[in-house]
This record gives sequence, structure tokens and C-alpha cells, in this order.
Amino acid sequence: MSRADGLAVGVVGATGMVGRELLALLERRRFPVRALRPFSSGRAPAAVRFRGRALAAPGVSLRALASCDVVFLVSSEEAALALGPRLAALGVWTIDDSAAFRSDKNTPLIIPEVNAAALRADRRLIAGPNCTLTGLAVAGARLHRLVGVREVRLASYQSVSGAGRAALGELFSQHAALSGFGRGGGGRAPMLGAGVSSILPRAIAYNAIPQVGRFGADGYSSEETKVAAELRRIWSAPGLKVSATAVRVPTIRGHALAAWLTMNRPLSPARARALLSKTPGLVLSRDGDYPTPRSAGGKDPVHAGRLRQGATAKELALWIVSDNLLKGAALNSVQVAEELRRRGWLKPRHFL
Ligand SMILES: NC(=O)c1ccc[n+]([C@@H]2O[C@H](COP(=O)([O-])OP(=O)(O)OC[C@H]3O[C@@H](n4cnc5c(N)ncnc54)[C@H](OP(=O)(O)O)[C@@H]3O)[C@@H](O)[C@H]2O)c1
Repeated sequence: MSRADGLAVGVVGATGMVGRELLALLERRRFPVRALRPFSSGRAPAAVRFRGRALAAPGVSLRALASCDVVFLVSSEEAALALGPRLAALGVWTIDDSAAFRSDKNTPLIIPEVNAAALRADRRLIAGPNCTLTGLAVAGARLHRLVGVREVRLASYQSVSGAGRAALGELFSQHAALSGFGRGGGGRAPMLGAGVSSILPRAIAYNAIPQVGRFGADGYSSEETKVAAELRRIWSAPGLKVSATAVRVPTIRGHALAAWLTMNRPLSPARARALLSKTPGLVLSRDGDYPTPRSAGGKDPVHAGRLRQGATAKELALWIVSDNLLKGAALNSVQVAEELRRRGWLKPRHFL
């Protein structure tokens, strides 16, 4: 990278779980960073490491962000709402991982392997999708394009890191508090009761919680509603029927989905396997094998397995796992920035 090619890159939320993955990805993928400007909430002194150096991560400075070529927002919805439109209006490419703009028709909602065509040179604010639907949106994209998916039913098994750093800390402390159970052997399996949590709706250690977000009047959680709406947008399929049950489980990273896809016409598992094996961004396990959050966590691609016929000749069943912090957030955002560079839209604006 010559100095002239390098980009000034801002990261708001650099000290968070997604932010730290994002910094590591910028290094690993050799993104041409000339100057990195990391920010945190500013509530406490903070620093991050980049290319072997410690950099201070203070509270947000709009002035410093306005001098960047691209800003990654990986912090909170409030910060995204306050910064996103202002930065974009100043000409800064701004890629947000929060839910703030995902349903805004004027903000492209992008998974590069699936709908890079929805990027626009004059829309400098771009949203990344909900981490739960990313795996399905990638895995089913080619099936949808070539055969047509008319209905999706799914159950998610979502890791605790998807709820942020504080939720993960709570899982570990609940686990530590319970780890004395069962010592001495024998007896009945422990009964833990519903449990309480200050962050998730119930205690998460040794549990499964069928609530991610708030429930709406229709009985669906906000996560379930988001998955449906965002999948329709990303696949450009306004008529797609989606029914989801989102469940938080005590895994650390990697969201898993059991999905049933009803196609427009009959599709054999063998033909589906051929289509899935050429789907960009997807690794399909061989028959009899499958990914788990532990095997697919920390990996870039979406992983799938257990492909089989569903209840009818038009239905397929599939197990999908993707890392919520990578493809579900940081990696997707970096891939968006890489795509903007490939198009020549993201380039250095300032020489300091
Ligand atoms: N976790 C996931 O799997 C996932 C997946 C997709 C999308 N997302 C989205 O990505 C974003 C970050 O998630 P996360 O899991 O990384 O959360 P996190 O670990 O809790 O980190 C939050 C980050 O945002 C910073 N922050 C909080 N309030 C801020 C403010 N008002 N101004 C500037 N910075 C602020 C925090 O700084 P301090 O260190 O100072 O607190 C921290 O760096 C969220 O919008 C989330 O919805 C997360």
C-alpha cells in the first residue's frame, strides 16, 4: 500500500466484541489502513491494539470521524442514529452494524455475496444485517435465485455473544456460581429453577430462552420480526413467508439455525447439494457430517450440513451455523468496504 492509496478508517465501538474482531480483520485481510481512529463510549479510559501498537480509544469525536474515508459503526443504535446520517452527508462512507437503519428503505442493507447490486454510489450510509439471518441469507441465496424459495420456517440457537459483552460476562459468572452442583455424585439431576438475569430475560447458564428482544402484539419477538423483514429485503422477495422462533442458548459464539425451505417446485436433496456447493460464502459438510457453533465459530464462511428432504418434495431441511461476530457483523462490514473499494467508490479523500 502506498501512502496515497491508504485510507483513514474510523471505528466507533472499537473496544466492543464486534469492534475487536473488526480491527483483527482489517489487519488479517490487509485492508489498506493509513490511519486508524478507534473510539469507545468514553466512559472509561480505553485502548485497543492494531498492528502491534496500542492506540487510545477515547469517546467519539465527530470532527475526527468527519476526516475519515470510511467509518465502521459497531457500537449502539443510539450512536448510529446520532452519527450515521451526519457522516454520510459529509461524504464519509459509513457502515453500520446496529439495527438502526436496517428497515430504512433509503439505506442499502447489504450482504456482499448476496446483494452487492443494491449498493449505490450516492448512498454512503450502509446497514449490515441482523446476525441471525446472515447464515440463512447466504446459504439460501443461490437456491432462491435459481429455483425460488417461497416459504422459510426456522428455529435459531443463538450464542450469548450476540447479546453483547455484558451478556457473555453474565453467562460465565452464572456458570461459575453453579459449577459446584453435582459434586459428590449420584442423586437426581439438579433443578435450577427459572433463574434471573440483569441482561437477558432469564438466566442463560444451562438454559434455553425462547425470547430474543421484546415480544410484539402478534406474539413474535423483535428478533423474529427482524429476521423475516430483513430476509425479504436482502433476497428482494417481498412475498416470502417466514416463520421463526428465536432461542438464546448458552454457546459463546456462532448462531445455529434449523431451517426448512419450501421451494417453488420440487427439488431433490442431490440437486440442492449441487447448488449449495457452489454458493459463494458457504461451506457445505459432506453427508452425515455437520457444523456446530464450536467448529464453525471463529471461521469466516457460513457452514451448513444435514441437508435432507423436508415434509414434501418441495421442502428442504438444513442446519446452518455462522459466526455472529464475523459474518454476522464485523466480516460482513469489512467485505462491504472491500466491495466499495473494488468499485472505486471508496478512496482516500484527505491527505493529512
Ligand atoms: N454481538 C454480535 O454478535 C453482533 C452481531 C451483529 C450486530 N451487532 C451490533 O454491533 C454493535 C456492537 O455489538 P457488540 O456485541 O460488539 O457490543 P459490545 O461488546 O457491548 O460493545 C459495544 C461497543 O460500543 C461502545 N459504545 C457503547 N455506547 C457507545 C456510545 N454511545 N458511543 C460510542 N461508543 C459506544 C462500547 O464502548 P465501551 O467499551 O466504552 O463500553 C463498546 O466499544 C451493536 O450495535 C450490535 O447490535 C452485534
